[in-house]
Amino acid sequence: MRIAALPHERCPSVAELREMDRPGRLLLVAEVDGRVVGSGLADRSDEEGRAYVAPRVLPEHRRQGVGTELLMALARHAVDQGYERAGAGVEDDGSLAFAQRFGFVEADRQVEQVRRIGVEPWPAPPTEYEVVTVAQRPELWARAYEQVALPTFPDMDVPSLLNVTADDWAKEWINDPEAMFLAVAGDEVIGVAGLLLDTDKPERAEVAYTAVRREWRGKSVAATLKRMSMAWAAEHGIAEIYTWTQRGNDNMRRLNEHLGFTYGATSISVRATLPLALPDTAAHDG
Ligand SMILES: CC(C)(COP(=O)(O)OP(=O)(O)OC[C@H]1O[C@@H](n2cnc3c(N)ncnc32)[C@H](O)[C@@H]1OP(=O)(O)O)[C@@H](O)C(=O)NCCC(=O)NCCS
Repeated sequence: MRIAALPHERCPSVAELREMDRPGRLLLVAEVDGRVVGSGLADRSDEEGRAYVAPRVLPEHRRQGVGTELLMALARHAVDQGYERAGAGVEDDGSLAFAQRFGFVEADRQVEQVRRIGVEPWPAPPTEYEVVTVAQRPELWARAYEQVALPTFPDMDVPSLLNVTADDWAKEWINDPEAMFLAVAGDEVIGVAGLLLDTDKPERAEVAYTAVRREWRGKSVAATLKRMSMAWAAEHGIAEIYTWTQRGNDNMRRLNEHLGFTYGATSISVRATLPLALPDTAAHDG
């Protein structure tokens, strides 16, 4: 259901979904005649003070009110959790039209960048710093959160600061430690880049969070780490890697273009104030 509704996005495995469960997170399914035709997710978002809601309906069951039922239930849950704003992502005009009916407005766009993997040479080992995988030095992943993730989140082109806990970083920002590369100078992690493997489509992998500490920028650290990810991908049967970049993040888009990425789908981030008004009810009341 999830893969059919969102073909461009990595679908977490059932085990990963169980790992992500936490108080306040709501997962719904919609059934028609005993068949699952839709799903819904409400959770806190990575952005401070805002809930994330995701109603999804199988294409052949759309326009029958299922999405409305799901969205209203998710939004009520978000209100019960104390949220005053909600965000969602839409990838097609119909879903945008749906969201706009409930007062969602566009806040940002993300573009998918895709790179076919061919023969990918390993870059020469750098001399000013060393590169290790998280599999080689597992203890460095928590250090990468402190030394790279937290100082670089403010540089992302998102409307408000990302709210990613150390626990989220440990559970959701990495899946295969062999495929995560860290640049290390002395005692310090100075850059991260790697891949999140798609368990649902093993020939694809998503580019994980790529970041370099400010004082190390302009020295090809990110390009080196990304080239290593691409060489690793080629050796592990991955045919395509993809990444979602904020439209305004010119630096990252240019780096990816430089590495041979081309453009794929677009995702529109929409935001609404809670509680949501049910459009028809509002019309009847009027
Ligand atoms: C968005 C989505 C959940 C809508 O599900 P749905 O069950 O078709 O929604 P509903 O039947 O409740 O639609 C309610 C109203 O929204 C509007 N709407 C929904 N889909 C539309 C479309 N493709 N084009 C134009 N308007 C649309 C219509 O006004 C519709 O009422 P109507 O059918 O009486 O005209 C579904 O298209 C989907 O799963 N999209 C992919 C996932 C996604 O983007 N989710 C985030 C949405 S915030």
